[in-house]
Amino acid sequence: MNPKLIKKQFEKSYVTYEQNAVVQKYLAQKLVSELLNIKSEFENVLELGCGTGLLTKELVKNVIFKNFFANDIVAKSEKYVRDIIPECKFYCGDARKIKPLQKMDLIISNAMFQWFENLEKASEIYLNMLKKEGILAFTSFSPDNFKEIREITGLSLKYKTFDEMENIFSKNFEILYSEQFEKIIKFNTPLELLAHMKNTGVNSLTSKSWTIKEVKEFCDLYKEKFPHIELTYAGMIMICKL
Ligand SMILES: C[S@@+](CC[C@H](N)C(=O)[O-])C[C@H]1O[C@@H](n2cnc3c(N)ncnc32)[C@H](O)[C@@H]1O
Repeated sequence: MNPKLIKKQFEKSYVTYEQNAVVQKYLAQKLVSELLNIKSEFENVLELGCGTGLLTKELVKNVIFKNFFANDIVAKSEKYVRDIIPECKFYCGDARKIKPLQKMDLIISNAMFQWFENLEKASEIYLNMLKKEGILAFTSFSPDNFKEIREITGLSLKYKTFDEMENIFSKNFEILYSEQFEKIIKFNTPLELLAHMKNTGVNSLTSKSWTIKEVKEFCDLYKEKFPHIELTYAGMIMICKL
């Protein structure tokens, strides 16, 4: 995946994101509630890919921390996070390349790891950013995510399965909690579904714009194959300890 394209699509979606990101919101709440069953007080917390602060708000409401570090590849994310935690330290850039000076007690991320093609490498990067017994908590998506879109367009991320993710992360971490999820959202029309994808910034599978004819073909095919205009979100929640 091209990080520049991901950045561009998310940048455009920030104003509409929170109103439309129902699954991401559910995941942020679930991730924090499962984290609280394990631990609720941390010294240094780093949130990766914080976007408009959906997960940040959940963390502020529920978790006790001393220092908050936030990251996103989109620069204007800093303003959103600062509105929630004015004193936070913001690292703008690719979450795999940031270099925090302090070691973290918690590294947490909602709906971003699916863009990391080399998760073995990511697992090593974050293990080195954590203190001993530090926690890495994240949600991500799996091969059935947006399966309807893949069936019609052939476009999809190279998602890892739940088992592959458990294998990757159990090499460096003890998995304290892991769960798969599937959520199906229904729309009135395929055009509404396309707008949902644009408004949540997840339309970055290709840089090519569609012609009116291509949009019509997509809509006709969607109605034919999926008459209830459903869109599947599928993925996982994982909480790991070093
Ligand atoms: C689906 S949004 C999730 C935002 C937020 N975590 C939430 O809970 O709503 C994904 C976010 O990850 C950011 N992102 C994508 N790839 C990234 C990368 N390589 N490094 C840092 N941020 C990235 C995007 O800019 C976007 O803000």
